[in-house]
Amino acid sequence: MDSFALVIFGITSNLSQIKLIPALYDMEEKGLLPSGMTIVGISRREMSDRNLKDYVHSVLHLENIHHKHEIKEATFKKLCMRLKYLGGSVEDQQLYEKLSKFLDHNNRIFYLATYPDLYHYVFENLQKNKLNKQSGGWIRLMIEKPIGNDLPSAKALNNLLLKYFTEDQIFRLDHYLGKETLQNILTFRFANDIFEPLINRDSIDHIQITALEDFGIGKRGGYFDQVGTLKDVGQNHQLQMLAFATMNVPSEFSNEAVTKERLKILQSLMPLPDSIIYGQYEGYPREENVAENSNTDTFYALKTYINNERFKDVPIYIRAGKNLKQTVTEISIVFKNPPNKLLGSLDCGDEPNVLIYRIQPNEGIVLKILTKIPGYETKLQPEYMQYCYRIDPHRHYIPDPYERLLVDAIRGDQTFFNDAEEVEAQWAFIDPLAQALKKPHIYKNGSWGPKEADELLKKDGRAWLEPSMEFCRM
Ligand SMILES: NC(=O)c1ccc[n+]([C@@H]2O[C@H](COP(=O)([O-])OP(=O)(O)OC[C@H]3O[C@@H](n4cnc5c(N)ncnc54)[C@H](OP(=O)(O)O)[C@@H]3O)[C@@H](O)[C@H]2O)c1
Repeated sequence: MDSFALVIFGITSNLSQIKLIPALYDMEEKGLLPSGMTIVGISRREMSDRNLKDYVHSVLHLENIHHKHEIKEATFKKLCMRLKYLGGSVEDQQLYEKLSKFLDHNNRIFYLATYPDLYHYVFENLQKNKLNKQSGGWIRLMIEKPIGNDLPSAKALNNLLLKYFTEDQIFRLDHYLGKETLQNILTFRFANDIFEPLINRDSIDHIQITALEDFGIGKRGGYFDQVGTLKDVGQNHQLQMLAFATMNVPSEFSNEAVTKERLKILQSLMPLPDSIIYGQYEGYPREENVAENSNTDTFYALKTYINNERFKDVPIYIRAGKNLKQTVTEISIVFKNPPNKLLGSLDCGDEPNVLIYRIQPNEGIVLKILTKIPGYETKLQPEYMQYCYRIDPHRHYIPDPYERLLVDAIRGDQTFFNDAEEVEAQWAFIDPLAQALKKPHIYKNGSWGPKEADELLKKDGRAWLEPSMEFCRM
């Protein structure tokens, strides 16, 4: 792996604390950071290199639900050797003059862990100081979601990015694409030829995509109230989940071919503003930093179709929300029941087969089937054929998505990053739906969301699946 400098704009950000610093520690532990690689942390806070090391130490020892293992002092010390701090505002030219002196590598990754309003200062100043110029090395930029907050602003940001970087330098990060289960969908579908012939309108009744949380917005009110659930997770994570589950087989396993097929799905989605339900949990306007009369969606449920031959007329139902009954993220492919199904009249004999990609919490790929209950009668029970990460007999290490995506960025592999067209296709689908938001339906905390979301499916003779915890138990 090439040695390089990683420059993090916003080393004191929440993102750096909960994701980047733990990921870098884990990479250090696994020997994934090349020798001589340096990390420059930037923020306005006054800190020395020593202070930065203390800060990193405290971050690694914080209660962090994503990063729960022991911190080894020797690994921490190795990581510290790489750290340098540069204090100052990204708006200030002098910061970049100092940065030029700090950078002892021609290979560089600039990571934007700061506010989108500040990006243009960063780009302009990198350019003025020729820091984004590839001479004798590579320059890459990692940028977080959201890319814009609607189609025009996403296009404007993509155009701005292209003034300073080429598309192959821009790594737009949606951390769901770094999740093992999501990546495994491609392997499951395209390395096992037995399932692929069933993934179409002849066999599938409908698809459900669910991302529920049993907790509220916590201290994120200032951010969340401006965005809402549809834009926060629907526009990105959930549309990517759908793309992975329904895209055609790529011509090869390369960035270009995989991205091309994901894009075709995203561009074929039909926004149906009459088929979206918005919800808000009881008491939401009393949360910290939320407007008193806020109409922000803490829940949404929608119906859509993919406008292609393969999935013509197959309804796709997507829902996400907060303060609900359960925390779970999954894709369920519900298969059709044939007419006059043998044993269909028995108890639960008409339950359909369901292919479940469970993204969290009990990650796995599971096929719901009917089996005979052992005994003297023919009685049926639903069971699960399962591949579970938690009971992996080989005890493979599962990298955190940020770790995985940083490794890809260092290698220059953009397969699991979004390109400009994908992000714009996502917004083109979301914008007409977002414009349909008026007053959300209020729902009880700990429920499955507003009853109107149930009616969306009931009209079609269907119901939301209750996500099972009976497989891949932890
Ligand atoms: N937080 C998450 O879980 C999360 C998840 C997904 C995506 N993101 C994205 O990640 C990015 C960062 O979000 P965040 O929530 O982590 O932000 P945050 O906690 O508010 O941190 C902002 C960072 O920017 C620095 N900063 C602000 N103004 C600056 C200036 N003028 N010059 C230099 N540094 C400045 C701050 O440091 P000082 O104030 O010390 O200068 C701080 O380090 C955003 O694009 C966000 O959308 C965040």
